[in-house]
Amino acid sequence: MHNRCLPKVNLGFFPTPVVKLSKLSSVLGGPNILMKRDDMTGLALGGNKTRKLEYLLQDAIAKGCDTVITAGAVQSNHCRQTAAAAALLQLECHLILGGDPPKTANGNLLLDNLLGAQIHWSGTKRKGETIPEMLELLRARGKKPYVIPYGGSNELGAYAFVSALQELETQLDTTQLSHIVFASSSGGTHAGFTLGRALLQRAYTLVGINIDKGDTGEVPFAKFILNLADRTAGFIGSAVTFKSDDILLAADYVGDGYGVVGKLEKEALEITARYEGILLDPVYTGRAMGGLMDMIRTGKLTSEDRVLFWHTGGTPSLFAYAETLISGK
Ligand SMILES: Cc1ncc(COP(=O)(O)O)c(C=O)c1O
Repeated sequence: MHNRCLPKVNLGFFPTPVVKLSKLSSVLGGPNILMKRDDMTGLALGGNKTRKLEYLLQDAIAKGCDTVITAGAVQSNHCRQTAAAAALLQLECHLILGGDPPKTANGNLLLDNLLGAQIHWSGTKRKGETIPEMLELLRARGKKPYVIPYGGSNELGAYAFVSALQELETQLDTTQLSHIVFASSSGGTHAGFTLGRALLQRAYTLVGINIDKGDTGEVPFAKFILNLADRTAGFIGSAVTFKSDDILLAADYVGDGYGVVGKLEKEALEITARYEGILLDPVYTGRAMGGLMDMIRTGKLTSEDRVLFWHTGGTPSLFAYAETLISGK
């Protein structure tokens, strides 16, 4: 498919299952819906970041690093999976988490602690703005730190999703798919899918549901994804390039912002749980599934379509949202 196949460490169980959501399809009265279960990657309760970490931590080890640093929100799934991968590989792990320590460390934060990560609180800076300071500090202590960018979204992280689409090819006839719908937040998944689809020459539409109001630094988010897809192509020796209409980012579902659970997410969580026995998460996949359901309601997806929802994980954060999810606040 392309010139280079990158080395990786094994951190999860692949291929993750693909399941048919027949009851959900029938209750929503819309397209055939399939689900790719990356919530079952297996690394400390799973998720899409396991794929990225297989390539990123291979690079860390190849460079002789003994410590990893990354950043995210208090309920970051990326940080929790990084902590687990670091434990498995016996690397010291520093997580820079936005906000202030909550009264109770639950959900992903509980798991970060159990996994032995060292946690640093960064207030309003939840996207890794203080990583350079931490890097210097650890170097001064004689460590060899490896920085994993926010969300693991660089060329190596994105490449993992080129490889994920190759994995999907071994599981079903993807020429029959009309859409792949997924949560898009730091952009690596979306960029990798964009490149993977082009390399595989598939016609399905990639629908990234934007999870976060914020843009990445100075660059609008869709542009960031496009640039990362281009850079990842160059990185693996492919001449493919992308233009702005290659990136479909549904921006209508951010509601009151990142991590704020509303009716859309709650309804999607409940319907998926009650008809399929499958748990989504409140921040990412709940919002993305809410977007998919809305696209059915508004006729953007019809019974002619065959849609694959990529479950990117995140379920541990359900427990941190217990009050909101039960009381409906
Ligand atoms: C559960 C879950 N889904 C989706 C995403 C989005 O993936 P990306 O950051 O590659 O856009 C994340 C990122 O944190 C996540 O934790």
